[in-house]
Amino acid sequence: MATGTTLAELAAEAAGCTACPLAATRTQVVFGVGDPAADLLFVGEGPGREEDLRGEPFVGRSGRLLDRLLAEELGMDRSQCYIANVVKCRPPDNRDPRPEEIAACGHFLEHQIELIDPRVVVTLGNFATRRLLATDRGITNVRGRSYPFGRAHLVPTYHPAAALRSGGTVVAEMRADLVRAKQLLRSPRE
Ligand code: URA
Repeated sequence: MATGTTLAELAAEAAGCTACPLAATRTQVVFGVGDPAADLLFVGEGPGREEDLRGEPFVGRSGRLLDRLLAEELGMDRSQCYIANVVKCRPPDNRDPRPEEIAACGHFLEHQIELIDPRVVVTLGNFATRRLLATDRGITNVRGRSYPFGRAHLVPTYHPAAALRSGGTVVAEMRADLVRAKQLLRSPRE
């Protein structure tokens, strides 16, 4: 169980985690990046090859699209928000994370959310959305609105890899979701 009281302590704890088999194949744990007091938190699925090598989430092609949409729709760069993943270690060959890996890693994400205490959480794709909304429904079905999420609002959107695969319409819908997130960031906190 995670016991860290700051993000740095929690990251140090994650760095030594061997709770699931992904520990054996990772180069390093990819804990998260950004402002520890960010109002906006993005949650992806899990590190890919480049993230595993560099130790930072979303630094490959998907990350470049995320950075672009973040700049164009929210006028922000990644240092002004926080970016994390559901699982902190790379699933080999970019396979999907397994339910037992997500379960073993889940407390790190939950603790990150508690410590950051964001106003808006944007989930990128099915894994993050299903985990945080505790739903089986798919992203296409749940996106297009926001959901109450503790003291925050949750805005589900597509994973940038899906946008890279599918192109125009999906990118446009991601942009609309980020505009929704921007509006929620401006609204007073309850
Ligand atoms: N895809 C993710 O879900 N997370 C990353 O960090 C990179 C790619």
